[in-house]
Amino acid sequence: MKVYLDNAATTKVDARVLKSMLPYFSTDYGNASSIHTMGQENFNILTQSRAKIAKILGANERGIVFTSSATEANNYLIKGIARANQKKGDHIIVSAIEHPCVRESARQLEKEGFRVSIIPANRDGLIEAQELEKLIDQKTILVSVMMVNNEIGTIQNIAELAKVAKKHGAFFHTDAVQAVPYLKIDIKELGVDALSLSAHKFGGPKGMGLAYLNPAVYAEPLIIGGGQEDGKRAGTYNLPGIVGMTTALELAYKERSEYLKRVKKLRDRLWDGLKKKLPDIQINGSIKERVPANLNVMFGYVEGEAILIDLSYKGVFVSTGSACSATNLKASSVLAAIGLSKHFLNSNIRFSLGKETTEKEIDYTIKMVTETVGRLREFSPVSHL
Ligand SMILES: Cc1ncc(COP(=O)(O)O)c(C=O)c1O
Repeated sequence: MKVYLDNAATTKVDARVLKSMLPYFSTDYGNASSIHTMGQENFNILTQSRAKIAKILGANERGIVFTSSATEANNYLIKGIARANQKKGDHIIVSAIEHPCVRESARQLEKEGFRVSIIPANRDGLIEAQELEKLIDQKTILVSVMMVNNEIGTIQNIAELAKVAKKHGAFFHTDAVQAVPYLKIDIKELGVDALSLSAHKFGGPKGMGLAYLNPAVYAEPLIIGGGQEDGKRAGTYNLPGIVGMTTALELAYKERSEYLKRVKKLRDRLWDGLKKKLPDIQINGSIKERVPANLNVMFGYVEGEAILIDLSYKGVFVSTGSACSATNLKASSVLAAIGLSKHFLNSNIRFSLGKETTEKEIDYTIKMVTETVGRLREFSPVSHL
């Protein structure tokens, strides 16, 4: 049996998404910037896609910039807003549990002379508004806090945090990559100035992201060239990707309520099953303020990597932290930030369920994890501590 429980790393492209993309590779391949009919017809498709996405996100369509990934969107928004608004100040704030592309963008700005502050997370993996209040000052240009954490699935109160930033005259960015379709995203209601998404996390193609930036705010472009996206991001429009992301986003929200109910039931079945079979395990991060597809578990006395590899042999595909750290066996900075003891920092597995997950797969996973952890504990030097 093959069980894919790594949907926070990437998802399968939905067949309907793929179908919607195909004409723009084959028959309707005109460059959306070309003046002839083939180009202009595709420019209309581009405009319609932008409008559809803007409607779902409660956004001004002039603020939507298509990018190659959320990594690019986060780099553009964080570095671009900071660099373009230096008259406003020299300070930016990011949370302690951000994705590396946000953390590294902030680190780059620090090298350029900006002050960077980190908002700590509490034990539940949540970022508290009062902690932001302590750090923000008159010179803060930008605050960036992710909507849903990629490792532990915790949900932040973005509207409350954005209100604090606004009160102090700072712009607010949220990395919403892991929020679709779990949370409703209404940019106006949230009160954010900037937001990032990635299509491959919700049934869309890889290599397709989105940066939203309030049209009243300027960010220095990261990629310059032919002036596409109103000069905000140069490069020939990736129309198949844009159409695919639009279809995926529409489907994700259309089919959301049914999916949320189903996935929560499966996630709870997984946790209940593991708890019943294995002692010395715990959930990392709040169970309440968490997306229903995520289960991040600490298995005491065994190495997460050893569990992952053994499960992989058994056909169960999971992750120890974010996919981006698969080649980097350093302990998770997210788990360290929520205060996990150093003895347990390398004993964690992230199970991320998705649209395709079935009850049978969950039951198989419980059986395999129980076998694997039980066997590894038998020869763990610390299992009887
Ligand atoms: C929270 C978060 N932000 C950003 C990214 C980067 O997205 P992309 O793969 O589109 O570069 C990821 C991907 O793992 C993520 O989980």
